Amino acid sequence: MIFRSEGHLIRNREITFMEEVCLRPAELKDIMVLWKTRNDPETRKYSLSLDYIPYSNYKRWLETALNSDLYALFIITDSQNQPIGQVRFAFNAGLSAEVSIALLWNQRGRGYGTAALLKALEIGYRRFNLNELYALIKSENIPSIKAFIKAGFANQGTVLLEETVCLKFVNKKPRDVKNP
Ligand SMILES: CC(C)(COP(=O)(O)OP(=O)(O)OC[C@H]1O[C@@H](n2cnc3c(N)ncnc32)[C@H](O)[C@@H]1OP(=O)(O)O)[C@@H](O)C(=O)NCCC(=O)NCCS
Repeated sequence: MIFRSEGHLIRNREITFMEEVCLRPAELKDIMVLWKTRNDPETRKYSLSLDYIPYSNYKRWLETALNSDLYALFIITDSQNQPIGQVRFAFNAGLSAEVSIALLWNQRGRGYGTAALLKALEIGYRRFNLNELYALIKSENIPSIKAFIKAGFANQGTVLLEETVCLKFVNKKPRDVKNP
């Protein structure tokens, strides 16, 4: 069974407790959690653009992104409905999208990342009818690599992006996913 991020994840006969999370579409009112997770030192260290983004620049980008067909932004919420991070889909030509994720610094290492990625797979395949989701992750970003692997992404090897060596992790739509 895949995609199940509430209660228990059952995969390869292994039962692991997973944190409960939801993903909801981001709105302009979510700017603080989006901006904070984007500008967090660890997020910047592991992203291709290391620069701090001033609030006004980020707001301009967000207003454009929320109205763009190229992106879909989601807020990750915990069981108390509190925002704890974000997931971003960047759509490509064809039926694939790059997925990236960032949690608020004080919400990391508790299983939320893996749980949110499982929700992202469900949204990517059911809502957006994609065939494939992938992530480009710096090879030193161990928490991210572990979270993507635990969510069912497979390492497809290295990719050079703006002179940075990244690992490409791919998840393909399972045959049994039914679209609404
Ligand atoms: C990457 C990220 C989303 C992962 O989410 P998370 O909730 O912290 O990860 P999880 O709790 O699901 O843990 C995943 C694995 O990483 C491990 N891990 C978490 N933090 C770690 C750390 N600082 N060092 C080493 N391993 C770590 C966990 O122990 C777990 O492995 P395990 O199952 O073998 O124990 C989160 O750490 C984050 O927001 N990082 C900053 C932004 C970023 O790098 N985004 C990725 C860009 S694609």
